Amino acid sequence: MPALLAENVTAGYGHSPIINDITLSAELNSVTTIIGPNGAGKSTFAKTLVGILRPTSGRIVVNDVDITRMAGHLIPRHGLVYVPQNDNVFKRLTVRENLEVGGFASRANTAARMEEILDIFTDLQKAVEKKAGFLSGGQQNLLAIARALMVDPSVIMLDEPTAGLSPAYTDVVWSQIARIAKLNTAVLVVEQNVERALKHSDEVHIFVAGRNHVHGAADEIAGLDLASIFLGRSHAS
Ligand SMILES: Nc1ncnc2c1ncn2[C@@H]1O[C@H](COP(=O)(O)OP(=O)(O)O)[C@@H](O)[C@H]1O
Ligand SMILES: [Mg+2]
Repeated sequence: MPALLAENVTAGYGHSPIINDITLSAELNSVTTIIGPNGAGKSTFAKTLVGILRPTSGRIVVNDVDITRMAGHLIPRHGLVYVPQNDNVFKRLTVRENLEVGGFASRANTAARMEEILDIFTDLQKAVEKKAGFLSGGQQNLLAIARALMVDPSVIMLDEPTAGLSPAYTDVVWSQIARIAKLNTAVLVVEQNVERALKHSDEVHIFVAGRNHVHGAADEIAGLDLASIFLGRSHAS
């Protein structure tokens, strides 16, 4: 059983669905990335996984537990956490306080876990007493990821963690993502840059018009005509 299994998930905001019949899984120690054109439903899928939106059909299973109808605030306890693209840190709290808030939902020892996390995020280590609002955009994104990791999740869902960052900082974030996967975590990422997704991921899924159009190992996907697929002209699988 994969750490995360989404099976035939259909969901939307009103009467007509935005995402249709999406099936996707994510494994521990591995980076699974969703790419696809703007408006394809990547963020809608992310929000459905973590209980912000309710699927009208399908199921979502984390570590063998069906979380499909679970209240959103209970989902992190079952091992799935989510980092939205924007507004993902408490700007008036310090780095340390943000991490403490993140550990609140956890049964783990917060202090020990914080040490483990700061060991990876060395930029944050140097700024633990700084207010989050004074960090750079890239550092704030890393803090949001670090905070989500405080509960020692088995699955972490990151929605465009590098959006708006400089190329140099984008590389920093992706190298942290690789290290997070190695902490026995399944990392699921939405990334708008195709090249970057192919370079850093194990598995890649391409969403087009609300469907999981194509998926495979990153090196297989790299060989496809992605421009046609993005335009919905090709149905390769
Ligand atoms: N809060 C919302 N209410 C209604 N429609 C929405 C909402 N958010 C997104 N949508 C619509 O859902 C579709 C998919 O959006 P989204 O999941 O954000 O795509 P992506 O993340 O792939 O760019 C778009 O047509 C968008 O307009
Ligand atoms: Mg999006």
